[in-house]
Amino acid sequence: MASKLGLLFGILKTATLMSFQIVFVIGEPQVPCYFIFGDSLVDSGNNNGLVTAAKANYTPYGVDFPQGVTGRFTNGLTMADIIGQLLGFSNFIPSYAMTNNGEINSGVNYGSGGAGIRDETGRNLGDRISMNKQLLRHATIVSRLSNLQRNKTFTNEYIQKCIYIIYMGSNDYINNYLMPNNYSTSTKYTPDQYATVLIQQYSQQLKSLYELGARKIAVFGLGFIGCTPYEISTFGTNGEPCVESINNATMLFNKRLKPLIDDLNNAFFDARFTFINISSISASQGAVLTNVSCCQTRSDGQCVPNSVPCSNRTMYTYYDGFHPTEIANRLLASRSYAALSPMDASPYDISHLAQL
Ligand SMILES: *[C@@H]1O[C@H](CO)[C@@H](O)[C@H](O)[C@H]1NC(C)=O
Ligand SMILES: *[C@@H]1O[C@H](CO)[C@@H](O)[C@H](O)[C@H]1NC(C)=O
Ligand SMILES: *[C@@H]1O[C@H](CO)[C@@H](O)[C@H](O)[C@H]1NC(C)=O
Ligand SMILES: *[C@@H]1O[C@H](CO)[C@@H](O)[C@H](O)[C@H]1NC(C)=O
Ligand SMILES: *[C@@H]1O[C@H](CO)[C@@H](O)[C@H](O)[C@H]1NC(C)=O
Ligand SMILES: *[C@@H]1O[C@H](CO)[C@@H](O)[C@H](O)[C@H]1NC(C)=O
Repeated sequence: MASKLGLLFGILKTATLMSFQIVFVIGEPQVPCYFIFGDSLVDSGNNNGLVTAAKANYTPYGVDFPQGVTGRFTNGLTMADIIGQLLGFSNFIPSYAMTNNGEINSGVNYGSGGAGIRDETGRNLGDRISMNKQLLRHATIVSRLSNLQRNKTFTNEYIQKCIYIIYMGSNDYINNYLMPNNYSTSTKYTPDQYATVLIQQYSQQLKSLYELGARKIAVFGLGFIGCTPYEISTFGTNGEPCVESINNATMLFNKRLKPLIDDLNNAFFDARFTFINISSISASQGAVLTNVSCCQTRSDGQCVPNSVPCSNRTMYTYYDGFHPTEIANRLLASRSYAALSPMDASPYDISHLAQL
């Protein structure tokens, strides 16, 4: 393992973002299974059958994905896909929507565009699988796994070895707090109070995940939502590079999330939670065009169906108004997996979480 990590670090140090290549690990994955919770940043098709504007099962999404259009909200691989490859999984983890005929032994992807920590989040777009619903789905998967494996003790031990990633909270801002005409949260709470209520609810949800057997849990902080092309064009930047008030609000969430992770580690001595600092990682992004979308966008920030995207996708940080391009996802995933700075992940990056 040490040599594999050393190689990865060496490559990361010398690679520019443009020539960046992921190292594929040959053989068995490092952990038996990998479960993915979150929103459109990790969704791999769970929304395709839902009545919602938050679905990406049309071109130009998937233009660089091996199977083309799948429902992923980017041109190619999501961050969750790339982390899976780094963990040594040779296939993509199936979406919950596909698990009727798919493998559940290696994990399930519950990600759903528009979903949030709060149940009402994203209702302006239509149906979505909120964090609470994703946890209910996970409970059914755990019991199906238990039935398949026919040995409860074995299943309990098995699911403790899995990696769980959760990337939630962006929509609680984008499709809730920042839409005062559709949601009352911004009149009810100051940004500080809102971060507090979100973290309280998130804390309960992370405890539920623990109660469902998870022991190696990576929780992602929020990125610079105020720097997304959609928020820049919606709110304006007052001469700054980004919408500062939005970044300030989401940083309050991050500031409370990190101590929550420490509290959970203290409360559950047999579990390892870790905080992935996406703001730290994305502060050093290398793409040239960071504030414009690669594809033509609709009024809701998603790509215009069947439009022609930019030809040089490695030059763009954002594919549509919100979602990173694959090249940006590669940077986010690789530093979540193998931290380049002590700020990137604490207390563990995902490669270390896998080995614990
Ligand atoms: C959200 O608010 C806008 C502006 O008031 C309104 O036009 C729209 O219908 C609302 N959408 C939903 C889903 O409530
Ligand atoms: C069930 O799994 C446990 C843990 O792997 C193992 O020790 C035990 O022998 C298994 N029981 C049966 C009946 O196979
Ligand atoms: C954002 O936070 C910074 C640092 O605390 C502060 O200087 C700035 O005025 C804030 N900006 C807005 C728009 O709230
Ligand atoms: C994330 O990293 C940034 C930059 O490295 C740092 O300023 C910030 O405090 C970190 N966030 C948290 C919640 O630790
Ligand atoms: C994007 O950033 C460039 C360079 O900083 C700036 O000139 C341009 O006005 C920005 N565009 C938008 C839409 O904010
Ligand atoms: C894409 O952009 C990169 C970085 O600016 C440049 O090196 C490369 O030649 C461009 N490729 C194409 C096909 O435009």
